[in-house]
Amino acid sequence: MGTSRFEPLSADRLLADLRELSTIGQEPSGGITRLAYTPTEQAARNWIAGKLRAMGLAVSVDALGNVEGRPARRHGGPADDVLSGSHFDSVLHGGRFDGALGLVCAIHAVQTIREAAPEAPVGVVAFAAEESTRFGTGCLGSRGLAGALAPDDLDRLVDDAGVSLRQALAALGLGTPDVTAARREPGTWARAFLELHIDQATDLQDAGVPVGIVTAIAAPLRLRVIVEGMASHSGATRMANRKDALAAAAAVILAVEGEGRRLEPSGAWTTVGNVRVEPGAFNTVPGRATLDVEIRAVDDRAMAAAMRAVQGRLRGVAADRGVEVSWTAVSRSTPAVVPSALVALLEEVCADLHVQAVPVVSRAAHDAMYAGQLAPAGMLLVRNRSGLSHSHLEEVDTEDILVGATVLAHAMWRLADQATV
Ligand code: HGY
Ligand code: MN
Ligand code: MN
Repeated sequence: MGTSRFEPLSADRLLADLRELSTIGQEPSGGITRLAYTPTEQAARNWIAGKLRAMGLAVSVDALGNVEGRPARRHGGPADDVLSGSHFDSVLHGGRFDGALGLVCAIHAVQTIREAAPEAPVGVVAFAAEESTRFGTGCLGSRGLAGALAPDDLDRLVDDAGVSLRQALAALGLGTPDVTAARREPGTWARAFLELHIDQATDLQDAGVPVGIVTAIAAPLRLRVIVEGMASHSGATRMANRKDALAAAAAVILAVEGEGRRLEPSGAWTTVGNVRVEPGAFNTVPGRATLDVEIRAVDDRAMAAAMRAVQGRLRGVAADRGVEVSWTAVSRSTPAVVPSALVALLEEVCADLHVQAVPVVSRAAHDAMYAGQLAPAGMLLVRNRSGLSHSHLEEVDTEDILVGATVLAHAMWRLADQATV
């Protein structure tokens, strides 16, 4: 593709597309709800496919609802393609930038490159179901590509209404009898993958820079913890004779939080995101409590240490309170390290463009973790002015959006250039 460069990205076109995508699933509060494999998410899938087709890309939608737009080509193959993208689903009442920003920036980076070099081996991938909100497990689309879904996941993963992943896919005309059929072979999917994403905390805001270059991506391990006490009359049962599952769950919550605070400096942290109580009545001492416990860690060592510590605390609560405490892993992901060559390339591009950037560890999980099992995968974070995410208060300055998208385009151009030499 040579050393010639492409025209500057058009902020107007990029922002117009971001606004348009944000209208799909938008709520009066300004929040976005586009849960995995719902009609609203399907509308976003159709919008994306239409956009990619209009760019002259060859568009495909796979069994898990991931959308790819690749150059129709006379030579080479998918393994030459430099891909960029992100996810298009959201959490409940989420922000308009989580996932969507990376996807729209990828669309415009590819569009701008192709206007200068129509044969460039660059394309866009839009991942389905990255958020764990509906099925308790995240990155379902990218896991499927990487072959990280188990055959029984289609029926094992069920939402709160009892709809299985298989049923949800079928309702949209997606799905496959054998989920492992969706997998792609490493080394055949792409030459490299880059994901741009909004910073989901205040790292870049605090550092006073617009861009973060991700060096590693932390991964969640999600446990369902069940505390079995004994339901009994809230009036008649003396305090000393109770096996109060909710009081024990409160001890679990504080213990898990305590381990998260203790372990955070060594790369792991914890959250209890939900508790369900049975029978849940004024007049009955709770007999059972079910807790959603998440451990995030930057590497396997930190994850193993945190798992041991949390399990030790769960056993301690059981012994102290005379209740039974059990747990099962609902989902687990593998922390990812970004190849140093990709980190270096992104650093060089930022230096060439005089863009201030800092190396960051992504504490949030992303599809790039699974894309990285198929091809070298790198990430850029873009400053979030509010420092809040999974919230309608997500905020990114237009200038930072353009800076991020420009870095992305130049990085893709360099990687594609390497592919064409
Ligand atoms: O949960 C996460 O880390 C992200 O929202 N996928
Ligand atoms: Mn998210
Ligand atoms: Mn995201």
